[in-house]
Amino acid sequence: MEINKLLNIVFPPLFVIALLFILPPFLVLKLLFSTQRFVFKENVAGKVVLITGSSSGIGEHLAYEYARRGARLSLVARRTDRLQKVADKARQLGSPDVIVITADVSKIEDCKRFVDMTVNHFGQLDHLVNNAGVAHGTFFKETRNISDLVPIMDINFWGSVYGTHFAVPYLRKSKGKIIVISSAAGWLYPPGATIYSASKAAQIGLYESLRIECPEIGITIVTPGFVESEMTQRFRPAKYLKNEPTDDCAKAIVESTCRGDMYLTEPFWMRPLFLVKVLCPELWDWTCYWLIVHRRRALDKNA
Ligand SMILES: *[C@@H]1O[C@H](CO)[C@@H](O)[C@H](O)[C@H]1NC(C)=O
Repeated sequence: MEINKLLNIVFPPLFVIALLFILPPFLVLKLLFSTQRFVFKENVAGKVVLITGSSSGIGEHLAYEYARRGARLSLVARRTDRLQKVADKARQLGSPDVIVITADVSKIEDCKRFVDMTVNHFGQLDHLVNNAGVAHGTFFKETRNISDLVPIMDINFWGSVYGTHFAVPYLRKSKGKIIVISSAAGWLYPPGATIYSASKAAQIGLYESLRIECPEIGITIVTPGFVESEMTQRFRPAKYLKNEPTDDCAKAIVESTCRGDMYLTEPFWMRPLFLVKVLCPELWDWTCYWLIVHRRRALDKNA
């Protein structure tokens, strides 16, 4: 019998049996390590943190949370006036030094410039927070001009990759960290978020691989779901659900990063949904269809 055909039959059941033995000690070890990480978590006072998309939403509140902990900040976004206001508040909250850089993350030369300016000013880089992102909220079939979807990939995916490329040498030197503000959509692929989900999934894929390539850099992949921001203003999860306040989310992100977690989902209750998606994909698709696609069709008919 050909080796792959044999493995097809033998490997899956053997794997399940092996898992029964491996999983309990693995979970115990994991608990021990997470306790250790909790006790020896990083103090970011005086560290240099670069945050993209920090003029509003999660990025803005991350700036405040890092400021309260005494980190020095490099704030990057397209809107200079809003960025100045965030910088002023960050200084008041306790950041010893804040610089503001106007840049568009979808442009390679802008990304090179903000990393260079940060290192020239502070002499080092400790945390790179890839936060800048844009959303869209229409069904794929309603796309009028496919070119409209290109910026979503350019900002969400390439916009984190470019900055990361230029920052990696400095982060390796400082044994620093990368924080990726991805999205629960990057694992759940809800309807009405096709290109957005794809950009976030691409982002997750890149950093999962990079984490193994560069073990000296800690990478925390954050998958926010129902969190308050400009992006989610238009999407109410449901009448009875409320978006998590942005400052709570930002606090959880910095805590998680300082512990050196691999993943963080906010709000935390959304995490089991990833298991549903993996273990019962039919159930997930069916529920999403009835809650989102079917309801929209009914609404459109009545309109
Ligand atoms: C789609 O948009 C792009 C740029 O926004 C434009 O250059 C192009 O002509 C548009 N295509 C169509 C078919 O309207």
